[in-house]
Amino acid sequence: MNSVIQAELTYDSFKELEKSYGSSFYLLDVNKLKENYQKINDAFKSIYANFIIGYSYKTNYLPYLCKELSKLGAYAEVVSRLEYDLAIKIGEDPKRIIFNGPLKSKEDVFYALDNESLLNIDSMYEIEFVKEYALNNEDKEIKLGLRVNFDISQDGVSILQEGYAISRFGICVENGNFHLALNELRTMQNINIIGLHGHFSTRNRSLHAYKVITQTLCDLAKENLIDTLEYIDVGGGIYGEMPDSFNIITPTFDDYAGTICEVMNREFKHFSKKPNLILEPGISMVANTFIFISKVIEVKKVRDNNFVLVNGSVHNVKPTMHKNNLPMQIVRKNENVSDNEYFHIVGYTCMEKDYLAHHVHDALPERDDFVVFENVGAYTIVFNPPFIKERPSIIAMDNASFFEVRKKETINQFFNEDLYSFSFP
Ligand SMILES: Cc1ncc(COP(=O)(O)O)c(C=O)c1O
Repeated sequence: MNSVIQAELTYDSFKELEKSYGSSFYLLDVNKLKENYQKINDAFKSIYANFIIGYSYKTNYLPYLCKELSKLGAYAEVVSRLEYDLAIKIGEDPKRIIFNGPLKSKEDVFYALDNESLLNIDSMYEIEFVKEYALNNEDKEIKLGLRVNFDISQDGVSILQEGYAISRFGICVENGNFHLALNELRTMQNINIIGLHGHFSTRNRSLHAYKVITQTLCDLAKENLIDTLEYIDVGGGIYGEMPDSFNIITPTFDDYAGTICEVMNREFKHFSKKPNLILEPGISMVANTFIFISKVIEVKKVRDNNFVLVNGSVHNVKPTMHKNNLPMQIVRKNENVSDNEYFHIVGYTCMEKDYLAHHVHDALPERDDFVVFENVGAYTIVFNPPFIKERPSIIAMDNASFFEVRKKETINQFFNEDLYSFSFP
């Protein structure tokens, strides 16, 4: 079974963990993380040697996780100064930081260029900062990349997430801004444009989309950056391995690697020094590496409906509050279970919509059972708002050992006195 839980986690082991960490907590499966990294890396590297993984920090910037991935060889893909500074804080080599994102201050741009990070500018306003830096540092060779925006619709139909007709990111090719940006930057002798970046968040994460993205980036690079090209960055967005219960067939890492690397190998066949290929996986790297465990506090009936109250909230498992149930397991105190019934699993907030799961059909849980929500590694920890209760701890599980990588928040951390005023007139 393609489940996040690799170790045998029994009721007794949860009771043991509860003693140290409380009755709700996240569990990071470190082996699963390493396995994901290795599978993605092997799939691409076996076809295109100059391959780099830039882990997308925003998906889950738990420092321990970022460090593990860095140790495995991943670069840090960051989209804000905050994430950039975190990468530095965990000891990342600045030359292995890919700095993307739509909003960068002049100071951010100067800092990234001082550090020789891989800076991808997203809009024209950043060009002014780069040119000013180039003017102040005439003896320095300045390298940077451009995030480009081009049409990837299929038969005139947008394939972007949420049905957006066009992406708002990057410098547009079709309206001439891309060439304008190249010309502007090339007015400075010491600026070299060494890479193109093209991340698109598509609905179906299809192989076809990656074929179009990679081909377009290669064409643009060969037409415009032939003497300086060092990398093609196709962004993130690929599917990871899906839990069995999702019952959908998605492209594998090998499928993505085959599609993307086929274009790279063909386009750069005659190049003595082939450019690096950068992939920025987020969801595919971390979604299935986390579970959230929460204890059943009460089981109550309202008219004919069963409500199972747990010590958790929808914010802990699916902050976007979508209606699909996550893959789940109930770890029971009593092995003799009753017949299946329908029930909802609800959380501690006062919001009516705080449902961790809807219409579950299983034996009704009892007080003190544990519910395990799987696949909660992506965009949960980072979206978990400070709302009503302190955030739970995060435990890493590495082979047989368990250790805390984020403590349970305390009231003093929640209401940080460096931030909030507690002196009242
Ligand atoms: C620039 C960039 N790179 C990488 C990613 C990661 O995407 P995913 O988590 O879908 O792999 C994103 C997500 O929005 C992104 O904006």
